[in-house]
Amino acid sequence: MIVHARLPDLMPPGSDNPIASYLADPDEVGRVLLLYSGGLDTSVMLRWIQEKYDAEIVTLTVHLGQPGEDFDVVVGKARDLGATDAILVDAREEFAHDYVLRAIKANAVYGDAYPLFTALGRPLIAKLAVEHARRTGCDTVAHGCTGKGNDQVRIEATVAALDPELKILAPVREWSMSRDEEIAYAREHGIPVKGGTEAPPYSIDDNVWGRSSEGGEIEDLDAAPRDEVFQLVTRPEEAPDEPQLVRVGFERGCPVALDGERLELVELLERAADLGRRHGVGIVDHVEDRIVGLKIRDVYEVPAAAILLTAHRDLEALVSTIHQNNFKRTLEDKWAYLCYAGLWHDPLRADLDAYMDSANEVVTGEVTLKLYKGSVTPVARRSRYALYDRSLASFGESGAQFSQAASPGFIELFTLQTRMARRVRSGAEDTESEER
Ligand code: ARG
Repeated sequence: MIVHARLPDLMPPGSDNPIASYLADPDEVGRVLLLYSGGLDTSVMLRWIQEKYDAEIVTLTVHLGQPGEDFDVVVGKARDLGATDAILVDAREEFAHDYVLRAIKANAVYGDAYPLFTALGRPLIAKLAVEHARRTGCDTVAHGCTGKGNDQVRIEATVAALDPELKILAPVREWSMSRDEEIAYAREHGIPVKGGTEAPPYSIDDNVWGRSSEGGEIEDLDAAPRDEVFQLVTRPEEAPDEPQLVRVGFERGCPVALDGERLELVELLERAADLGRRHGVGIVDHVEDRIVGLKIRDVYEVPAAAILLTAHRDLEALVSTIHQNNFKRTLEDKWAYLCYAGLWHDPLRADLDAYMDSANEVVTGEVTLKLYKGSVTPVARRSRYALYDRSLASFGESGAQFSQAASPGFIELFTLQTRMARRVRSGAEDTESEER
């Protein structure tokens, strides 16, 4: 039996107002732009919305470099299921330049583990949804996110920020269909179910910056992920026995070359991912603090991010002062949190990006990394902006440029308060014990 959502569920009990101002009023849904992946949820949704709301559907599918996806098949399926229009946008360039590059400049990693590939993709997908909804006369944007995840926050935050007129429909939060019920619904409505009726073992999301697996056995925190989880990156124990060196060139914080060959950013990201995959690089097992309060375990495969963030961090540290290096970390954490939390359009993100751009003005040069059975290690670097002088750093004589004789004077002044605090406080303790 299929339990359809009761439409009044969109209203809190005893109220005439929807729970959020931007939720679609069931009576006013006319034409819906559905974010369509081609999977079971959004395919069932395509029919369900037509049936339930008597609405026309335009689908939007966004290419962000998902490895191995056949987008022609996805678009064809949308048409077969009754979409009046099935739009495919290849957004790889925009994703690379306006989202991934910002993340590189910000060394963006959430919870010391997650390079934010999904979190970076969602605001772009939602922005495209707004643009195409307007263009095709849609009043509502529908998506397939659940009520437990971060993605609903990211998509709805972006749509509501960019176009307060547009309404949101999130059927998975309302329809309370189990997977078996969805399959039964698909059967009844002639929706092809890819890969049979076996529940897929994991929930996957991916793009050029990484891949995540959640659910199934991964929910058992106490067990290591099974080998089958790793569909992108070679398991380190099976990676080549020979290490490989790769030289990454940067200009103003942007990766521009691999081993001296200049590449467009999208291609560079793809090539870095291929290199990393081969060497088992970028496997992350993370129990994550979601925005909606849950702790959830994710297994990530992030070969491109592992390579490029490691190289970028190394070069940036070389050309920045100690003060810049210490300060930037706190901003990076803030940037990563805003992105993770779906607040891409908070003005603070743009403020932080202005700082990131400024700090990256001098991040030009090359870093050589060694890739070997799951590890990425910087082994050499050079930059014309390096704040490094070999004659100063050397244990040998530096001549008049660095006076070692001046060091004790520096130490005396630099440690003044530390020494004084220790004296004052131990003196006070002695007096206290005398008073007792
Ligand atoms: N935990 C990651 C995040 O919140 C990955 C989410 C993957 N999304 C998905 N729909 N499977 O960004």
